[in-house]
Amino acid sequence: MRDMLDKNGRRIEYLRISITDRCNLRCVYCMPESGVSSIEHAQILSFEEITRLVRIMTGLGIKHIRLTGGEPMARRGCLDLVQSLSAVPGVESISMTSNGILLKDKVHQAKLAGLSALNISIDALNPSVYSRLTRGGDVSQALCTLRQAVEEGLHVKVNTVPIRGFNEEELTPIAHLAKEAPICVRFIELMPIGYGAQAERIPYAEVAQQLREAFGAPVEDGQTYGHGPARYVRYPDFKGAVGFISAVSHEFCASCNRVRLTADGRLKLCLNHTKGIDLRAMLRQGAEDREILDTVRSAIADKPGRHAFYESIRDHEVRSMNAIGG
Ligand code: GTP
Ligand code: 5AD
Ligand code: SF4
Repeated sequence: MRDMLDKNGRRIEYLRISITDRCNLRCVYCMPESGVSSIEHAQILSFEEITRLVRIMTGLGIKHIRLTGGEPMARRGCLDLVQSLSAVPGVESISMTSNGILLKDKVHQAKLAGLSALNISIDALNPSVYSRLTRGGDVSQALCTLRQAVEEGLHVKVNTVPIRGFNEEELTPIAHLAKEAPICVRFIELMPIGYGAQAERIPYAEVAQQLREAFGAPVEDGQTYGHGPARYVRYPDFKGAVGFISAVSHEFCASCNRVRLTADGRLKLCLNHTKGIDLRAMLRQGAEDREILDTVRSAIADKPGRHAFYESIRDHEVRSMNAIGG
């Protein structure tokens, strides 16, 4: 196993795999109400193709795998994929980012398959606010999965995206979840990607101020709780930590450690850049492992330095978040 450094000296060891662009919800900042026309099944990488790519990429230092979507559990057999990826030598952790609903009553099975950590997106606790934001979701099901995941001993995080006009009143109650249980609650600044560009971000500073007024002054936590870009703090008397992922207010690209694989088999080098490599074409044209490895190595070496959200760049991402996986 070798370490893979890009041209900016960043160690790339984390692969986010979007296994479907479909979702059972329609969050306002992610998808249109009517849904999106999803990629045809034949265009989507099979589980065998994904597993082969992961096996090849562990040879370049990829150790941590996260399954994303759309909603990963919306793809049939998702937990079978978890199981086959967990058998790949060199894979140290498999995590999932999910809205939790389709995982209800399957958390134990997910753990047995090899899942070690689960990030559950919950943007409101109030049932009607949640339903409005997700256009019809039932928060009690997501919360049930959250409870089950804690009981199973998975590393659990709640992801919340603060959106003006939707969940301002929900942020303190959601943070309170980390007071009562040893979980992480993270506030993710809305990024101007896809439908996210049409919703209004509540900036980090405003969320932090609201939480300080409710819970008192936080102290830096210093831990990472996973392999992502969140910065964590602890409020007095909290069992868990509160994290902030503030890609706009505090760009963290200099320490980026990841690349992405889209459901249709493109290796995506940065969240906000479309440029990538069509690995599906290589797989289906009969490329040898060695050839794929060399292609991936040189693509990663050339990973863009930063997201450049508000700059005019040639390959600005135009797809919506359900096709990228966050
Ligand atoms: P862990 O910290 O290991 O649990 O993972 P994570 O926070 O990277 O995973 P998750 O899927 O929960 O992502 C949380 C948020 O961070 C999502 O909104 C992602 O879009 C965002 N995010 C993840 N990786 C990146 C990145 O490389 N750049 C930017 N700008 N945002 C990212
Ligand atoms: N900006 C920030 N986070 C987003 N997510 C989806 N779209 C955006 C966006 N535009 C979040 C989801 C989920 C994670 C995968 O990405 O809420 O928690
Ligand atoms: Fe589905 Fe996630 Fe998009 Fe919401 S943010 S519609 S849960 S893919």
